[in-house]
Amino acid sequence: MHSPFNLSDDKSYQTWREKKLHQALNYQSGLNDLFVTITHCQSPSSTEVDQVLQNCLRYSFSFYRLAHKRDNTKSNIMNFVEQLGPLQLDSNFCADDDKLTSITQTRHINQHDYIPYSNKRLSWHTDGYYNTTDKQINAMLLHCKQPAQSGGASLIMDHEIAYILLRDENPEFIHALMEKDAMTIPANILNNKVIRKAQTGPIFSTLPNGQLHMRFSARTRNIEWKQSALILEAVSFLTQLFESDSPYILKYTLQAGEGLICKNILHRRTSFVDYEESDKKRLLYRGRYLDTLNQP
Ligand SMILES: [Fe+2]
Repeated sequence: MHSPFNLSDDKSYQTWREKKLHQALNYQSGLNDLFVTITHCQSPSSTEVDQVLQNCLRYSFSFYRLAHKRDNTKSNIMNFVEQLGPLQLDSNFCADDDKLTSITQTRHINQHDYIPYSNKRLSWHTDGYYNTTDKQINAMLLHCKQPAQSGGASLIMDHEIAYILLRDENPEFIHALMEKDAMTIPANILNNKVIRKAQTGPIFSTLPNGQLHMRFSARTRNIEWKQSALILEAVSFLTQLFESDSPYILKYTLQAGEGLICKNILHRRTSFVDYEESDKKRLLYRGRYLDTLNQP
């Protein structure tokens, strides 16, 4: 089958690779072109929606910025996202009632020691890497209601570019990372109760529509890598890549009314300092979707 992600189809890979790296040049000199201004969030124009989806097709992500401060509400954001595809939200037990998750410093009974709800740095990951195979996350939203006093930047890297860098280094890395038992996330146990069973799966896989999917976490605890020399070498390659000044890693601190829409790309967060006042605390809304974004 023809696919850039098929290791025996080098022709498709080379064509896709060249295009992908060429497109990535667009954001290496700055992020401005990646921002789409949304004039009316309740009824975004087809041009605006198309620009966001075009960015996601080219780069696997797009930034957007609301033109009006008054539009910066959760219901408006959900309305905007509905225009990007029939996206089914993956609910988790930390999600708000409307299933967008408020990411803010908090202590909830069910959020025990989860780092996302602290002001600590978050290491590189894709979302839902612990989900079951039938509930993989294929699209994500991160919207800023209000930023921190300082810090809280997002670092992002297109997982398709990570695939290219790994395959160029050693095609056997890809072979190993596509093995069905490449990574295991141990069971999540809260108060002696198993709230999520252990999950084993590949790092890279392809979706029925041909897109590439990645499950990854750079956490050193609670991740069990298959003890194969190739997998350990590939993970080490990725770790070094994340610590390098790679031009494919972008860093940006979302401001109020700005957001990121993306495939399930690699990302991390820097630590932050919050304002003292409770109504000024950093607040981001996160949506995780089981479906893929529409093709423009
Ligand atoms: Fe995340």
